[in-house]
Amino acid sequence: MHFPSSRLRRLRQTAALRSLLAETSLRVENFIAPLFIVPGKGIEKEISSLPGQYQLSIDKAISKAKHFEQLGIKSLLLFGIPEYKDETGSAALKADGIIQRAVRELKKDCPEMCLISDLCFCEYTSHGHCGIIKDRQLENDTSLDLLVRQAETHADAGIDMIAPSGMLDGCVAALRRGLDEKGYMNLPIMSYSAKFASGFYGPFREAVDSTPQFGDRQAYQMAYTNVNEALREVALDIEEGADIVMVKPALAYLDVIRAIKDKFAHPTAAYNVSGEYSMIKLAAKQGLIDGEKLMLEVLTSIKRAGADIIISYFAEEFASLRKT
Ligand code: PBG
Repeated sequence: MHFPSSRLRRLRQTAALRSLLAETSLRVENFIAPLFIVPGKGIEKEISSLPGQYQLSIDKAISKAKHFEQLGIKSLLLFGIPEYKDETGSAALKADGIIQRAVRELKKDCPEMCLISDLCFCEYTSHGHCGIIKDRQLENDTSLDLLVRQAETHADAGIDMIAPSGMLDGCVAALRRGLDEKGYMNLPIMSYSAKFASGFYGPFREAVDSTPQFGDRQAYQMAYTNVNEALREVALDIEEGADIVMVKPALAYLDVIRAIKDKFAHPTAAYNVSGEYSMIKLAAKQGLIDGEKLMLEVLTSIKRAGADIIISYFAEEFASLRKT
């Protein structure tokens, strides 16, 4: 047997050596935890499709946020489930709407927390699409006008960052212009730049009841076959003023994260979505896999692929693990 003198197993012999050599590490500070907020009081309803995740009324969301703060989680991504849905998603524009109220209340008790709103209409429209529908198609530019109005109400409520998720063309430019005109030039935008039409959103749509009543989202979200197109989306968003770009989902798109990070060196987030979370949770429940091990492996892979920020339903579990 003739070996070169490098034996890579030398440095794998003990836990101390292995951790000394770790090239990638996860930090609680890089996580954003999603929260689902519903009207009412005292509500803490587990979402059956997302084990361990809850629909929370504002009072319960505040307790949750305080708990997160103790764990070191400093950013929340807020999703609102409104009192009513209609054709235009008008509940999203109310100064006292679910998100607007949640932001005001959360800010009182957790002023240090970075509150980010998912800016879209699909939770608010009766048809479940991400804006105004005409001839069964999502109308881009009229939807943009409404999106800007929605953003202004979030800004008025005191939001720290907005995250447009509808994949409308020109949305970052429209939002930037609208916010700047109102004096919100310092409000950052995290754009869902490369959001793919994905089967991995299944459990989320149950959480917020936003399954499209007809058609699907392929006419606005991206095809999972395309990476060059993802780079074009990101290039445009950066040009339009996006402060952070995002890839979503994460796990089946690690190559896209890497390509974006390498090309643009821009702050990059990845959304470890509902289906990615629930697959692990349910397989662990069945005894097929070790849930904690898989969580760490998957989250690390997202970081290794180049994500600076990870949005994940695992944020709380990961942070708790760090504390124990
Ligand atoms: C749209 C939105 C969706 C998700 C986040 N924002 C759903 C969709 O596009 O269908 C999915 C999140 C997840 O699956 O965890 N407002």
